[in-house]
Amino acid sequence: MTWRFNSLPDYAFPRLRALLNGIAPGADEIGLSIGEPQHAFPDFITDILHEHKSEYGKYPPIDGTPALRLAAAAWLERRYHLRADFIDPGRHILPVNGTREGLFMAALALAPEQKDRPLDAAVLIPNPFYQCYAAAALAISAEPIYVPATKETGFLPDYASVAPEILARTSLAYICSPANPQGAVADLTYWTKLLELARTYDFMIIADECYTEIYDRVPPTGILQAVAQDGHLSADDSPLNRVMAFHSLSKRSNAPGLRSGFAVGGRQAIAQFKRLRSYGGAPSPLPVCAAAAAAWSDDTHVTHSRALYREKFDAAEHIFGARLGFYRPGGGFFLWLDVSETGLNGEEAALKLWRQGGIKVLPGAYLSRESESVNPGASYLRLALVHDLATTTEALTRVNQILR
Ligand SMILES: Cc1ncc(COP(=O)(O)O)c(C=O)c1O
Repeated sequence: MTWRFNSLPDYAFPRLRALLNGIAPGADEIGLSIGEPQHAFPDFITDILHEHKSEYGKYPPIDGTPALRLAAAAWLERRYHLRADFIDPGRHILPVNGTREGLFMAALALAPEQKDRPLDAAVLIPNPFYQCYAAAALAISAEPIYVPATKETGFLPDYASVAPEILARTSLAYICSPANPQGAVADLTYWTKLLELARTYDFMIIADECYTEIYDRVPPTGILQAVAQDGHLSADDSPLNRVMAFHSLSKRSNAPGLRSGFAVGGRQAIAQFKRLRSYGGAPSPLPVCAAAAAAWSDDTHVTHSRALYREKFDAAEHIFGARLGFYRPGGGFFLWLDVSETGLNGEEAALKLWRQGGIKVLPGAYLSRESESVNPGASYLRLALVHDLATTTEALTRVNQILR
């Protein structure tokens, strides 16, 4: 029997382990491959988890707590300068147990049973991309359409350039801004055009905005800001009805182990998502909801963390200058380095960095797929700047020396 997920390669990290297997690191190891924030986890989170520990004895509701939904809505309004009543915390927000599973299950919740089209449904995915989107497309028996997000396209996918016959059978489009891995940021024009395209071709947008708080100079515009321009949110044709956006505490609050995020979207989309999650979703434990409500309500720890990332990008800029295609990403905490000038591809460069310098980085090809015989990540490396400044500076200095 063929397995529905047969076309998924092994996940990026086991592939990296296999690549480096049996090869000794050339120096003490520094891992830049996983995007796991290492800045301090806020103490108040631990305190609140402790204060609420007796609530681990209860089954939590699938929609979290009113306090969490309220804090999420208040943060969205603050972060994106939205009108005070723009988000209805009861109808537009649904907490999720980490956004990875939320992004995956959203496809199941939002996919139409059958589009009135002759061919299978399609799901638009930026290439390279956060790998969960591809699994989600396969889960709903749709064809993943990998749309290049390269230097030439500003590192964001140009969905309007997709052939009209594919757009006509598109039911969902994933988009990530700030993008993992490239750090590109969608501006208001990008979001507005995407919303127009979604309306024209009748598809839903799943916007992964989990890096929106980690930016260099300008806070990234969110899809909700493009929606807010429209003005008639409760109408049936409101653009909010085409959107489900995801936000996470993993990156914002350095709390990847808390497993807490939320979805925000149109009433119907959130209602569908909530209904499906009541059957198959994992609700967030009540102590986690309490800690998450406090985290969304506090911006101080986020400002501090953002400043630490900025220092690391300053160091990177100083080290690389214009080498290896270095650019300062608008958001996120990754470097997306093009190693073509070394004559190596990303895998070869990753192997060399490990063998000679003990630096573990992710070959870009593990985050992208071949489309039209080209893998847009093949000559790239992704480096996560998650460690402290001294460790990061040491690692990047080694990278620069080894790839000379
Ligand atoms: C682009 C992107 N989306 C979603 C996630 C999932 O984050 P979490 O499940 O921790 O909320 C990650 C984590 O690395 C990510 O990089």
